[in-house]
Formats: sequence, C-alpha cells, structure tokens
Amino acid sequence: MTEAVKFSRRLEKCHNIHDLQRLAKRKLPNPIYDHIAGGADDEVSLIGNEAAFARYALVPRQCAGLELDAVDMSTTVLGQHLEWPVICSPWGMQSLVHRDGEVAMAQEVHRSGTAFALSGASEVSLEDLSREASGPSFFNIIPTRSRELMESLMERARAAGYGALIVTVDVPTQGNRERSRRNGLELPPSFSLAGWMSIAMHPRWLFDKIGYKMEFANYTQYFSPPERDLDWLFNEFFTCKLNWETMAWLAETWGGPIAIKGVLSADDARRSVDAGLSTVIVSNQGARHFDTTPAPLSVLAEICDAVGDQVEVVLDGGIRRGTDVLKAIAIGARAVSTARPFAYGLAAAGREGAARALDILKTEIRRDMCFLGAGCLADLTRADLRLWQGETL
Ligand SMILES: Cc1cc2nc3c(=O)[nH]c(=O)nc-3n(C[C@H](O)[C@H](O)[C@H](O)COP(=O)(O)O)c2cc1C
Repeated sequence: MTEAVKFSRRLEKCHNIHDLQRLAKRKLPNPIYDHIAGGADDEVSLIGNEAAFARYALVPRQCAGLELDAVDMSTTVLGQHLEWPVICSPWGMQSLVHRDGEVAMAQEVHRSGTAFALSGASEVSLEDLSREASGPSFFNIIPTRSRELMESLMERARAAGYGALIVTVDVPTQGNRERSRRNGLELPPSFSLAGWMSIAMHPRWLFDKIGYKMEFANYTQYFSPPERDLDWLFNEFFTCKLNWETMAWLAETWGGPIAIKGVLSADDARRSVDAGLSTVIVSNQGARHFDTTPAPLSVLAEICDAVGDQVEVVLDGGIRRGTDVLKAIAIGARAVSTARPFAYGLAAAGREGAARALDILKTEIRRDMCFLGAGCLADLTRADLRLWQGETL
C-alpha cells in the first residue's frame, strides 16, 4: 500500500507546487523570492520552460489491469537506482532560503527515494553533506580556470562517496537577472531600500538568519568569497574558456558516471558523446542566465533522436506537475530534474516543506501513470502523446 504522509495543516492546504510557490512568496522577502523565481532579461524562456509542457496532451490507455500500488516509477540514472524519476537539481545557497538548507533538503530527497545533486555553490561542504545524507548524491562542478582546482574537487567528491559528477556548462559569463540586480542581491549583497523594507516585513525570515554567513563552503579552502564580488567570481574564477577538450579531460579524470548540464542542441549532444560523457542534461538552467533559449522540452525529441542509446538523457527545467514528468519520459528522457519546486517547499516550511514538495510530485506521478495505464516508465512512448491540435508526434 502507498502510505499517505501527514503534514501540518498549512502544508496540507498546499495541493500542488503552485500553492507552495505562493506560500514561499509570502514567507520570503522579495529579494530572496526573486532570486529563486526570477530569470534572465525579459524572462521569456522562464515562462517558456513551463509553457512548453502545455503543448502536449497525454492519451490514456484504458483497461490496462493496473492499480495504484502496482505502479513502478523506478529508473536508473548516472549509475544509481531511483525509486522515482525526479532528481533534485543542483541549486546554490539553500540556507539563504531557510536555515535547514542543503542537509535537510538532501535527507528528504533521499527519504523519498531519489537523488540529490549538491551545487558547487552550496553553503555546506561536499564532505559535510555526505556525512549527513547517505542516499544517491551527485556533485555539481562549475568549471574553473584551474585544472588543479577541478582535480582537487573531483578527488574530494570521490573520497566523499559521490556517485557521479554533473558539469554545468551554460554559464560562460555572468547572466543578467534584472530582478536580482534591482534588489541588490549580488555578492556581496547591497540591498535596495525596497529590499530592506521587504526584509523588515519578514521578521521570521530575519530571525532564521541569525548567525547566518553567506559562503561557498566548497571553495573556502581555495579563496574567501566574502571579499570577492560576483564579477570577480564569474569573470576570473569560473570563466575558463570551456571547450570540448576540457570536457573530455573531465570525463577521463573523473572516470565514472558524468553528466553535462546545459545542452540544448542535437549537435552539442553528439559532441558530448564524443567527449565521453555518460549523461546529457537538456537544460537552460531554469532560464536564469540567458534569455530566449528554447524550452528544454521543445528540443528534447531531437536530442534523444541524435544520441539514441549512446548516452542517458535527462530533462531539466519547468517541471511542476507529474504529467510534465511523464511527457518528458514519453519523449525519451530517462529522468527529469528540477530545483524551484524544492526551493519553494524549503522556503515555505523548511525541511517539512521540502518533504511536501517531494510528496506532491511523487504522488502525482504515481496517480498519472495509473490513469495512463503505464505500469512502469518503459511503457511510456511518444505514441502516448498528442499535440493539442490532435496531431501525432
Ligand atoms: C536558486 C537557484 C540556484 C541554482 N544554482 C545552480 C547551480 O549552482 N548549479 C547549476 O548547475 N544550476 C543551478 N540552478 C539551476 C537548476 O539546477 C535547474 O537547472 C533549474 O532550476 C531548472 O529549472 P526549474 O527549477 O524551474 O525546473 C539553480 C537554480 C535556482 C532556482
């Protein structure tokens, strides 16, 4: 029997991820909420990422002899068996949202049966996280100029037991998130007057931040970020003229499951195969850095077709419903990943809110698979999809 998890009354009233987002908006000062929810430039891609899912309809298969408890949502990705196919994408600075931060997030992700990806820009070190959270974990490396430093990070991740590496490739320079620039939420933060007023109107969040110090815990041994501004970080530290030769070097040096995160074309997916990567994460990083890129879902089919079964494909971005997950899997993704639903959950109620976000998505997927007559993820194919106009794909 699938067991219903009990939540506080406030969270029980959050019936879906959109409700959690609304609660998060109430709980957070505007600069922090905008940091999570905002996107680059005019936020065209931000809207497009979610809207892309509405283009497709799912056609149920009736009389499939299924019941809810028999539905198998499991998948394997980056060498890990997952009970259900939604990975928690890497997202940095989680304690800014709630002091429970990455440790509680990872523990709840593992408790729900899926994988946690620790951002390179996390506020807990990769060693500390692996001591506290024992389920499938991936380490997210943001390439830097120095190969020595990347080697050191890889050694540390290997020693700490991370099963796979996720290499973020889509931030060759600092993006233009105008909400954050207006609010003054940069490094170091210099909030606008309106930002300070919003903070003052959220005393609980402020109280939660007593003793809080913003830092990139994985890098403190290499430099001291509070003295470094965002321009320095992106233009000197993380800017490394990343090329395919470096990607091949990373794959070889790591020597285990390794994903490239930020691919949006069939051509780059083929190059990822040639570079020896095991997994392609189709992503525009939640449209946070570069606007007017295609929605990941809109290029998923051509990427899956280009690489066949040479690499695993994961769809990242815009997932808010169980049906979104199943559409991506029907097109050819092995799993999906997302960050904002979990960030909204953490903001809404710390650890319990994170658990609620996971529970909502997992429950929706199971129910939707039952409606579709899909006993396992492999039962889902493009034949289950229609465009809203009724055409087949
Ligand atoms: C607050 C925040 C911080 C993020 N930090 C990182 C990061 O450190 N590394 C990375 O590869 N992606 C980062 N991302 C992007 C996510 O991994 C993911 O690609 C994106 O959020 C997907 O969009 P969705 O959450 O709207 O589904 C971040 C996203 C958010 C919302």
